[in-house]
Amino acid sequence: MIAKTSIDHELCFSLLDWYDREKRDLPWRNTKDPWLILLSEVILQQTQVSRGILYWKRISERFPTVKSMARSDVDELLLLWQGAGYYSRARRLHALAVIVSTNEAEGGYDGIIPREYEELVKLPGIGPYTAAAVASIAFNTPVPVVDGNVNRVASRLLADPNPSLKAIRSWGQSLLHRDRPGDSNQALMELGALVCKPRKPKCESCPLSSKCSGRGNAESFPERKKNRKKIEYINALVMVDPSGLPFLTRRDDNGRFGGLWGPPMGDVDTEAKEKIGEISHQLSHRELRVSVWRGTCSEGIDPKSVPISNLDSKILAMVLGS
Ligand code: ADE
Repeated sequence: MIAKTSIDHELCFSLLDWYDREKRDLPWRNTKDPWLILLSEVILQQTQVSRGILYWKRISERFPTVKSMARSDVDELLLLWQGAGYYSRARRLHALAVIVSTNEAEGGYDGIIPREYEELVKLPGIGPYTAAAVASIAFNTPVPVVDGNVNRVASRLLADPNPSLKAIRSWGQSLLHRDRPGDSNQALMELGALVCKPRKPKCESCPLSSKCSGRGNAESFPERKKNRKKIEYINALVMVDPSGLPFLTRRDDNGRFGGLWGPPMGDVDTEAKEKIGEISHQLSHRELRVSVWRGTCSEGIDPKSVPISNLDSKILAMVLGS
């Protein structure tokens, strides 16, 4: 994975200087603990940095070590993950904790996060991006990361509307500082988040602008993908008991919102039920349009006692009030 690419020293130092001056003080940047860094990168896969801070603090406080998570029940993590979305991440993270904590003789890692990109990428929930981020930030391995921010910065610098992954990696490699590859990677992501933004980039304060082929025309890069989401129509039935509590079921581990709780959804009987309203909910590749129905049941449960997705919280609020 470590390619032989010559370093562009001017850009490499300019980028790191900028990072040292301008970086945000994010809590996972004050630790070298690989578990806590891995945790931050899994959370940031699909959660914005501002919200990620809250989840990272909450989860790292309860699970300060990989072994502490491995000993816990996955439902406890799901409860802490509530509201962050993409819950399969939480289930994979728990599976990772169990595998890492297993003895080496039984195929695990004795509770030690592996340092190599090639080992990291084998773990549940760890793709090329997260493996490169953890290997470089926690273990100083010079592997370039490619996320949405890096893709945009590379596309503009190279004035290539659709650069290949190989081209971005090779370009990213040329900016990695030999002793601080994790900081170089974080600097590029930070640059994409704070300066080389999708709209109205601040080219005048960019440390890479002297060699940016897209400067002056930045918003043309990268090429915009047409994103026509499929719309899926579904029913949700909220059955309420005499004390006002809803009937909730635990969703199948392998399906959408797996392991979380919610009112029956999908194949529900709406005969003689009252339609309360409709909710539109955006997923990464789909839009859900949920018709919300109300019925009755003999015994519900307290929604605060179980993990519930944002969508299900909205559905319950529509019927029960919030
Ligand atoms: N996005 C994901 N991980 C990040 C990090 N470590 N720094 C900045 N942005 C990120």
